Amino acid sequence: MAPLHQSASFQLLSLLSLAPHSWVAAYNYTFNPLEHLGRVSPYFEPRDVQPSNPSTPQGCTVARAALLSRHGAINVNDDDFEDWIQPFLVKFLNHTGTDWSSIPSMSFLADYQSPITPDTEPETLTKIGEFEATELANNFAIRYPSLKTPSKIWASSPNRTFDTAQAFAHGLENPDQPIEVVRVNEGLHDGANNLVPYQSCPEYREEGIRIATPFRELFTKPIKARFNALAPVFNFTTVDVVGMMLLCGYEFAIQGSSPFCNLDLFPPDDWLGWEYTDDIRYNYDVGYGNYVSGPVGFPWVNATAQLLFAETADQDMYVSFTHRTLPSMALVVLGLFNNTAFVGSGPGINESLPIDRINPHRAWRTSNISPDLGNIVIEKLACQGSYGFDDGEYYRVLANNAPQAIPNCSSGPGWSCSRSGFEDLLQEKEERYYGYSKWCQVDYDNSTDIVTFYQHYP
Ligand SMILES: *[C@@H]1O[C@H](CO)[C@@H](O)[C@H](O)[C@H]1NC(C)=O
Ligand SMILES: *[C@@H]1O[C@H](CO)[C@@H](O)[C@H](O)[C@H]1NC(C)=O
Ligand SMILES: *[C@@H]1O[C@H](CO)[C@@H](O)[C@H](O)[C@H]1NC(C)=O
Ligand SMILES: *[C@@H]1O[C@H](CO)[C@@H](O)[C@H](O)[C@H]1NC(C)=O
Ligand SMILES: *[C@@H]1O[C@H](CO)[C@@H](O)[C@H](O)[C@H]1NC(C)=O
Ligand SMILES: *[C@@H]1O[C@H](CO)[C@@H](O)[C@H](O)[C@H]1NC(C)=O
Ligand SMILES: *[C@@H]1O[C@H](CO)[C@@H](O)[C@H](O)[C@H]1NC(C)=O
Ligand SMILES: *[C@@H]1O[C@H](CO)[C@@H](O)[C@H](O)[C@H]1NC(C)=O
Ligand SMILES: *[C@@H]1O[C@H](CO)[C@@H](O)[C@H](O)[C@H]1NC(C)=O
Repeated sequence: MAPLHQSASFQLLSLLSLAPHSWVAAYNYTFNPLEHLGRVSPYFEPRDVQPSNPSTPQGCTVARAALLSRHGAINVNDDDFEDWIQPFLVKFLNHTGTDWSSIPSMSFLADYQSPITPDTEPETLTKIGEFEATELANNFAIRYPSLKTPSKIWASSPNRTFDTAQAFAHGLENPDQPIEVVRVNEGLHDGANNLVPYQSCPEYREEGIRIATPFRELFTKPIKARFNALAPVFNFTTVDVVGMMLLCGYEFAIQGSSPFCNLDLFPPDDWLGWEYTDDIRYNYDVGYGNYVSGPVGFPWVNATAQLLFAETADQDMYVSFTHRTLPSMALVVLGLFNNTAFVGSGPGINESLPIDRINPHRAWRTSNISPDLGNIVIEKLACQGSYGFDDGEYYRVLANNAPQAIPNCSSGPGWSCSRSGFEDLLQEKEERYYGYSKWCQVDYDNSTDIVTFYQHYP
């Protein structure tokens, strides 16, 4: 086994902050590929753009909070396995005629054995995914000591989301007071009232992978040329390169290390190209490039705002687990990570993500927004004596524990949004996005535009 593989062995404490594959050049340039893995990014809390303080703002206490999270790390996703990883592994396993051990950056392939086999049951939460979900819950208990432990949390129906919720519950519950995980159906005719509303929306279409194709070809072209110069007989294709890059993420999710994350194999610029391809893809799938993102995300944002606004509520914490889609769409509703937010009527949202070069100034970054366990939290703050601010109720949004200023509503403590500002914002978003069934052109007659499962399920 290659030395780098061994040196990158998994340590629990290293997961969140340290870089197991940091690359230190002579002039102290460092790069951690794990923070640029796009859709297979492990959980991390990005601090590089603006390291704002996640602590509760001075003079405020958290009165109630809602968390919406993607499931934790999984062993492999169905489509990624079938479309990229499996074809690469089959080709690799059947390949003869290349002496891998003579190619320094690929020598690990001489005795490589993937933890993913043709018999792997995809979409399964890994031990690392379980550990991180429990740890997120521990962090929650530490961050919000004044909030009562909830009696229920919610998860969409598949095992990976439900199991993530169970692991989170274990990190939060007291032994004598178990938390119930409510399984919310994830069907095709459920309207807005669930945690995966895009599935019941016939107008939801995933165009991203097609739109990102030219850029995928562009960034993999020099990689293929380089690999084929080293191992001409193998004939590396785009599928092989993508399969190998995905293996970095999934193997890390399974065993805490992967030889495919080695920067001798894929140096930093390769990962930046990979990451940008996913930013294009998910912008068009679940972000600002899909016109139903706002309408599909709005019902959850509204229902959550109402739970937080209410004078009294059943619980202090509303915690929900789903896939990347809903948190991303909720961010669109709130106007966060909008590539064009600061250029106004300048270049359109599509021009902000060109497909022939990287826009390094983009705000929409999949690795930062929806890593495994990627989450958003909306806090209801009760503030008194916060110097320079009126006493009262404020709302603050955090994405992966990084506070975000809502466009047009950030004049409160810690750039939070006042109660009346948040109500106005919601009103504005209602005018823009309300009408799930109409926007989605639902073709079944029992749809609903409103989320009610937090009060009543089923
Ligand atoms: C590079 O990092 C090392 C160790 O942190 C430090 O001692 C050295 O001064 C750094 N060199 C430069 C040029 O910053
Ligand atoms: C494996 O390689 C052999 C010889 O090159 C070829 O005939 C066969 O079709 C390959 N099988 C697969 C599954 O690729
Ligand atoms: C989901 O989990 C249950 C309970 O652990 C298990 O019996 C079932 O086989 C799993 N389903 C899938 C599709 O993996
Ligand atoms: C509509 O009916 C179908 C079939 O009975 C059911 O599965 C679905 O949950 C219903 N949708 C809503 C929003 O009640
Ligand atoms: C390499 O693979 C590509 C894509 O499958 C194929 O079109 C091409 O003919 C192959 N080249 C060689 C030399 O086998
Ligand atoms: C917002 O949510 C509340 C509570 O579920 C609901 O009564 C109201 O109709 C919703 N408003 C909109 C515009 O969806
Ligand atoms: C993104 O920002 C631009 C510029 O401020 C604005 O016109 C647009 O409405 C925003 N998009 C969304 C979906 O909020
Ligand atoms: C951006 O691209 C999408 C997908 O191609 C398209 O549907 C949409 O109309 C475009 N938006 C603008 C403002 O050009
Ligand atoms: C911010 O407010 C201005 C003026 O009310 C409005 O024109 C603009 O659309 C708002 N921007 C966003 C992102 O909501």
